[in-house]
Amino acid sequence: MGTYRLLALAVLVGTAAALQAINVATVEFEEGYTPLFGFDNIVRSADDRTVSLLLDRSTGSGFVSSSMYQHGFFSASIKLPSDYTAGVVVAFYVSNGDVFEKRHDELDFEFLGNIRGKPWRVQTNMYGNGSVSRGREERYVLPFDPTTEFHRYSILWTRAAVVFFVDDVPVREVRRSAAMAGDFPSKPMFLYATVWDASTWATSGGRYSVNYRYGPFVASFTDLALLGCRVDPIQMPSSGSAECTAVEDALLASDLAVMTLEKQQAMRRFREHNMVYSYCYDTLRYPVPFPECSVVDSERRRFKGNGHLRLALRRRHRPRPEARPGRPTRAADM
Ligand SMILES: *[C@@H]1O[C@H](CO)[C@@H](O)[C@H](O)[C@H]1NC(C)=O
Repeated sequence: MGTYRLLALAVLVGTAAALQAINVATVEFEEGYTPLFGFDNIVRSADDRTVSLLLDRSTGSGFVSSSMYQHGFFSASIKLPSDYTAGVVVAFYVSNGDVFEKRHDELDFEFLGNIRGKPWRVQTNMYGNGSVSRGREERYVLPFDPTTEFHRYSILWTRAAVVFFVDDVPVREVRRSAAMAGDFPSKPMFLYATVWDASTWATSGGRYSVNYRYGPFVASFTDLALLGCRVDPIQMPSSGSAECTAVEDALLASDLAVMTLEKQQAMRRFREHNMVYSYCYDTLRYPVPFPECSVVDSERRRFKGNGHLRLALRRRHRPRPEARPGRPTRAADM
């Protein structure tokens, strides 16, 4: 019996180990980024490899990549603020909204703070060519406490697909298709990291405001990685396209971009256990699902018509007792 258990454990461990660890070159802050706002609230470590963004009564803070990138792999290990964080949003995203106001592209990780005892929720989203009326949000609960240790969050963006990763696990893949047209991000983007007060938006549709008695709220970033083709914002988009194609071909051929069977299985497992909202099942907002949504009947039954996971399943799939998801939230909670 004991041996049997050990054997089962070994098999499990073996399966997990099959997922190759993301191992990319990291950079110092100075090499790739520049302060964006709330300069006094940006605290860099002595070795310049870790940067903390603070939100206090006076301001939030943020940094931005010094260059724009035409496709790439954007990654950081992040530790989120703990305790009472309602209304606090930490965002890690690529965007060109400051360059193309009306037809911007964007890929987001958004971490939505919560009242004490309720876990942070993570949202991924994408926009292409100004598709702001077509939010493509997905939300997940994390299988760990994101406030006690650093965990890696990564965005892979190629001409073929967008993949979001939590640690080494791909959690969402959107393959480019002709039907998506301009909704698939296509123009060079900057990488941004910010912490800000989203009292009116983030937690239960603004029911809870940031309570600064619990501040300052500190989000720390390390293992900073920016792989991709740098593009000059002035000459863009014509600059360096041949060069960028070569850089991207190398990225596409690398372990990061190859979707192995192990990765697909890990992604399916993560989504089965951790996804609590999907725009693909939100028929209230989108009666006709988007072309990239492969609606699986067995999966759809787990979600309500507003795209949220049914409560019974939330309970069963809770990642761990202290990280139990809260009450089902309303679609308006976006
Ligand atoms: C992006 O939007 C503009 C208008 O806002 C349109 O002219 C252009 O064709 C679109 N590009 C793509 C790739 O769909």
